[in-house]
Amino acid sequence: MSLTNFPGSGSSPAASSLTKVTMPALAEMKRQGKPISALTAYDYATSRLVDEAGIDVILVGDSLAMVVMGHDNTLSVTVDEMLHHTRAVRRAVRRALVVADMPFGSYHGTVSESVGNAVRFIKEAGAEAVKIEGPRVELVQALTDAEIPVVAHLGLTPQSVNRMGGYRVQARTVDEVLRLKADAHSLADAGAGVLVLEGVPREVAASITAELPIPTIGIGAGPDCDGQILVFHDLLNMTFAPPAKFVRRYADAAALIHSAVEHYREDVERRAFPSDRESYHLSKPVRRALDLDSDTEDAMDALVNKDALEDFGA
Ligand code: KIV
Repeated sequence: MSLTNFPGSGSSPAASSLTKVTMPALAEMKRQGKPISALTAYDYATSRLVDEAGIDVILVGDSLAMVVMGHDNTLSVTVDEMLHHTRAVRRAVRRALVVADMPFGSYHGTVSESVGNAVRFIKEAGAEAVKIEGPRVELVQALTDAEIPVVAHLGLTPQSVNRMGGYRVQARTVDEVLRLKADAHSLADAGAGVLVLEGVPREVAASITAELPIPTIGIGAGPDCDGQILVFHDLLNMTFAPPAKFVRRYADAAALIHSAVEHYREDVERRAFPSDRESYHLSKPVRRALDLDSDTEDAMDALVNKDALEDFGA
């Protein structure tokens, strides 16, 4: 089966039993007290695995600048690069809500330029919502008016790294907490459908979550948010750096990949890969015509007959 075939595609029961996650569905989950699971993903294969694992929201985060592209921060990733990754994710995902992160600089000019950039994520890449950092209330209102669902993001907003002087927990003083709460309410009033709260004390996130009519999704914001999000590479130990306090490593993909790749290299070096069974063969008449060694003819015939029934990639 090729990577691009969906099991159960077409009119099978498996395909029709999928209930697509939408922005209103997330609001309903909050009403029902059902936790929302979210994860970043940036390419076809991992998005497909994440979707098939039942995650509700997939964020094509600008964190890809760091974990996929190797930059020191998220600031340099461009709209075109984010569109490229969002398209790959879109092709993989059937159930989860696909949210595209608007990169630094793409929504910091005029409202009309910013709406134009957001439209590209919906129209050219198939995103179902965009995420923007900071208390940009006027822009959230304009995006909502333009029928573009918005995921707002407050607290530790990585695109503000230069202003913040590093990645630091936010909203620690009374004034900062009151400011954050006021911003959260303004964004919800302006039409934001979801609020990501990053790097804030648990008590602050809990109180905003209790007050807001829209779902909150936390990252480094404690367990009381309506949902949780992590960066895919953090979850699987693929970041080459010590994890932040809030990260839980669910598996060690770095160790798994190291071991598999080393094993493959060793097999190549000792000529243990590929084997004869992993090779294609000439048919008997062609071997005869070319006067090739016929010692293993019987074994080869069995393989030739098998190969004749299979596609190249099977
Ligand atoms: O870009 C990102 O990955 C994010 C989150 C983790 C919220 O913004």
